[in-house]
Amino acid sequence: MLLEITGVLNEAQLVKVNEILAGSEFVDGKLSAGMAARQVKENEELKKEPRSMELLIRILMSSLAHNQTFNSAVLPYRMSDPIFARYQTGMRYGEHVDDAIMGRSGPRLRSDVSMTLFLRDPESYQGGELLIRTPFGTNQVKLAAGDAVIYPSSSLHRVAEVTAGERMVALFWIQSHVRDPARRELLFELNQARESLLSAAPDDLSTRLVDRSFSNLVRMWSDV
Ligand code: NI
Repeated sequence: MLLEITGVLNEAQLVKVNEILAGSEFVDGKLSAGMAARQVKENEELKKEPRSMELLIRILMSSLAHNQTFNSAVLPYRMSDPIFARYQTGMRYGEHVDDAIMGRSGPRLRSDVSMTLFLRDPESYQGGELLIRTPFGTNQVKLAAGDAVIYPSSSLHRVAEVTAGERMVALFWIQSHVRDPARRELLFELNQARESLLSAAPDDLSTRLVDRSFSNLVRMWSDV
């Protein structure tokens, strides 16, 4: 499932995040790339300076923890620390699939879901679209600052060349409680039906049955 989540960061959080990034040092993105990705990766990544990383992580993780769409669609179990990627004019990231196991420095996790959080006004740079291949064709994604897109980590994707201005994004990899993307999508839809029934008709038998089925499906399909 490819899903856009609007308003992950509010205006004040965006200003704060961009302020920290503006005063920080970036290094060649190839340093964090696996062997295959290194061939096609042309971007820069925030140098991991503990004080600014801690602040950035606190802002991003607290807003994600409260985002119902994110939690319902991803069913997050473990999350990588974010990577902040900067694409200056002329930079791009060729087609690749994300590493299966993430977290070289901290706890390891299997990447089930990838997330790109856009941090700059799309009008402020040319190009830099995220192009994700799906069974139904290639999706082109370039979102408003503060919005995010989630997609299966197994999908082939690339970032088109930035032809003017600067693209800045935060990237996350998440291990889901439910590994199979088709099951996650089904649970996401069932949960939406459940929530609307719980608010419209909390005492109905059908509401209780859907609620129970949802919980029991999560139990049946979750890894942990
Ligand atoms: Ni990628």
